[in-house]
Amino acid sequence: MSILFTPTRLGTLDVANRFVRSATGEGMCEADGAVTAALVDVYRALAVGGTGLIVTGHSFVRADGKAGAGMTGVHSDAMLPGLSALVGAVHETSAKVVCQLNHAGRQTQPEAIGGATPVAPSAVTNPANCVTPRELEAEEIEPLIEAYVDAAERCRRAGFDGVQLHCAHGYLMSEFISPHTNRRDDEWGGSVAARARFPLEVLRRIRSRLGREFPVLVKLNAEDFIAGGLILEESCAIGGLLEAEGIDAIEISAGMAETVERIMRKDITTEEQEAYFLPYARAFRQHVSVPLLCVAGLRSLAVMEQVVEGGAADMVSLCRPLIREPDLPAKFAAGSSRRATCISCNQCVRGPGKRLGCALDQTVA
Ligand SMILES: Cc1cc2nc3c(=O)[nH]c(=O)nc-3n(C[C@H](O)[C@H](O)[C@H](O)COP(=O)(O)O)c2cc1C
Repeated sequence: MSILFTPTRLGTLDVANRFVRSATGEGMCEADGAVTAALVDVYRALAVGGTGLIVTGHSFVRADGKAGAGMTGVHSDAMLPGLSALVGAVHETSAKVVCQLNHAGRQTQPEAIGGATPVAPSAVTNPANCVTPRELEAEEIEPLIEAYVDAAERCRRAGFDGVQLHCAHGYLMSEFISPHTNRRDDEWGGSVAARARFPLEVLRRIRSRLGREFPVLVKLNAEDFIAGGLILEESCAIGGLLEAEGIDAIEISAGMAETVERIMRKDITTEEQEAYFLPYARAFRQHVSVPLLCVAGLRSLAVMEQVVEGGAADMVSLCRPLIREPDLPAKFAAGSSRRATCISCNQCVRGPGKRLGCALDQTVA
């Protein structure tokens, strides 16, 4: 049997196989962030399709952290019925589901957050959307930490199997970690430990409020791909700090909105082009012993097996292939060794009023 169909454990979280659906913002929620019936169907299809662990699309922990229209909200108890329905659909199978907690920081537009100026650790302009955020006052940081912890508690009440802290791709936690976007000279900026303090503090508070058993994962940038940004040596050190603080698993990604084409490489057609962040997983493996999730460019069963068998990561995490084929793991389980039919064109269909889907499939476009 392929190693990909053997069970694994992340902290207290038992997962039936090694397939993860990497967080995928579907943009399919109501204007207030409430889960729609169509979104519940997306999760049912993923669960039935054989993915062992599903990470939700990034979900805003506070109204001013919304990245764009249709984003899922975990900021208010009014969201609980929809969130519970989503979890319920997944739990009709043996699949597990964790909610990716996010605050968009400077990677949003004032229009998405009621006309307010986006907040960030420092007022560094985001060239991807031409927004210059407002620097957070020191006393504004504590309520933000609490917003994450409140959201984690809400997720547990909704029945989620855990949460994933979004520390990648240039959103608020990643902005704290990156020396490019964090120019602070107080206790939240400067050294690697000070820049990592915000997510570490959130992790500590979640642990103290919800207990050691509630699974907390992280998606972390290995690098930002920006001059003066986060580098691998620093991110590996942050991996160690997270491990010491009891993180249950680390998913390793890289890049920010201004380098998005490096987060989601296009035109992956050969096995050699796959698993393009695998070298980062290998580097992390030298520094931490916590379970690792390898994401980005995984398309072939053979490559996925090599990633896990080689010991670089415990699980393989897929985004774009599962938009086109939510049943890809089930196909592999049934004996198919055909690679994912996703062509990595980055034309995935999503957004308000649209069902998450593949642009190649005329029926969903
Ligand atoms: C439509 C779409 C939405 C995404 N939304 C998120 C998200 O909400 N959170 C996140 O961490 N990454 C998000 N990503 C990035 C993916 O999780 C993943 O890191 C990246 O696409 C590379 O993996 P892949 O080659 O399997 O697609 C998104 C990617 C796409 C294409």
